[in-house]
Amino acid sequence: MYRVAIDDERDVYMASSIGKKVAEEFGLDKIQQTKLVVSIMELARNIIYYAAKGEIFIIPVPNYGIEIVAIDQGPGIKEIEKVLKSEIRSKKGLGLGLSGVQRLMDEFEITSKENIGTRIRAVKWLNERQGNHH
Ligand SMILES: Nc1ncnc2c1ncn2[C@@H]1O[C@H](COP(=O)(O)OP(=O)(O)O)[C@@H](O)[C@H]1O
Ligand SMILES: [Mg+2]
Repeated sequence: MYRVAIDDERDVYMASSIGKKVAEEFGLDKIQQTKLVVSIMELARNIIYYAAKGEIFIIPVPNYGIEIVAIDQGPGIKEIEKVLKSEIRSKKGLGLGLSGVQRLMDEFEITSKENIGTRIRAVKWLNERQGNHH
């Protein structure tokens, strides 16, 4: 398990580099590697923009996938349903947004509480066809 403290753009790069390395080690193809890396970048940038700082955990789970957990003690996300429908977007970052991360990853969940913080968990499966995804 890798833990990256997220404070600035360098940390975004660090987290995404670790994600890429793990994805290569796990044998994901280039397309799946990219989906994982841009998702990590989006989650890390959101931490910087909206919560100032936080942490990203990159957890390789053998025979399953690569789990990403992004945690901060920021203001929390108020209207998660609207955010995931892309109705609330500031167009910061890559413009991918959390709805994009949800689309790119195979599992995705947000837990957030106002003035407590946000925890986002996402998984990129080793085998895209696991479960009944598609
Ligand atoms: N970690 C976070 N903490 C608090 N609010 C967040 C966080 N991540 C996202 N948000 C809120 O959700 C909205 C949508 O985020 P996102 O889908 O990444 O689009 P964008 O960053 O382009 O606005 C943001 O504008 C922000 O209000
Ligand atoms: Mg964003």
